[in-house]
Amino acid sequence: MSTTSGTRNVLSAIGNTPCIELNHVVPEGCARVFIKLEGLNPTGSYKDRMACSIIEEAERRGDLKPGMTVVEATGGSTGSSLALVCAVKGYSFTVVSSDAFAEEKLKTMAAFGANVDIIHSPTGKITPQLIPSMRERARELSQADDHYYADQFSNHDVLVGYEGLGRELLEQMPGGIDAFCGAVGGAGMVMGVSKVLKSHNPNCHVTVLEPASAPVITKGYGGQHSVEGIGIGFLPPMLNKELYDEALAIEEAEGRAMARRLAREEGILAGTSTGLNVAAAIHLAKQLGPGKTVVTVACDTGLKYVRGDLYNQ
Ligand SMILES: Cc1ncc(COP(=O)(O)O)c(C=O)c1O
Repeated sequence: MSTTSGTRNVLSAIGNTPCIELNHVVPEGCARVFIKLEGLNPTGSYKDRMACSIIEEAERRGDLKPGMTVVEATGGSTGSSLALVCAVKGYSFTVVSSDAFAEEKLKTMAAFGANVDIIHSPTGKITPQLIPSMRERARELSQADDHYYADQFSNHDVLVGYEGLGRELLEQMPGGIDAFCGAVGGAGMVMGVSKVLKSHNPNCHVTVLEPASAPVITKGYGGQHSVEGIGIGFLPPMLNKELYDEALAIEEAEGRAMARRLAREEGILAGTSTGLNVAAAIHLAKQLGPGKTVVTVACDTGLKYVRGDLYNQ
């Protein structure tokens, strides 16, 4: 998907992921459920798509030039993807993250050469204050000369990358998509995909998901949770009411149980946000019934979480 794909560097391996049907975890009498395996992107996450579009759109406008430093606040998935793109393109990358997120992600960013600045989370959890404080620090750092703040939560260049995911789904699902759902952090993935799906079929039902313990979208207040990448503690600025039909809060425990079932019964090793996505897709598939099609996304690979408690209980 990268505009540099013709040069056949690693960025040309981003996107074009398979979309497969779930055969074992979906009960009888439901709609069919398909999942796009985004863990197969180079850093194991759909964030590779947006890291590429953030950097390449900024280059295209002339906002980002050789020799500059990219700055971002991230739990580590966006950071790993930006670190990859910056490594390939030769930019320095400074990232503000936290020890509330998987050590694998923090080490991945460093392995790609990023300069990682950690904000300590005393509870080890993602609290409503954590992401805003990381963003504040990133904003401060980006005031320096020749620094470019990627600002994933407000940067609409993110959508360009995810529209590609939507276009792939249209090609992969020629029989049509009745419903699409996805858990939201910055909301870029669901908004970018929905823009494409709804312009093709305005009746495609789009559902945004969040952890029930941090119900900012459904109830207006935050809370602590352990689902990396989503439930950011504030309404994501990119969440556009015209691009979704419904918001659902899913219990974190249900998402974690589903992530474990996905590994054991479908051979899909993913993270907790993917567990939430599939749990919600099955709720929607029960409501829609046979003859309909629900699609969701495996956000990332579970290899990012093997040292945590997701697969160790
Ligand atoms: C593992 C994981 N799942 C889901 C999301 C949510 O994606 P988005 O920010 O596009 O809403 C993220 C974002 O950081 C993530 O890292």
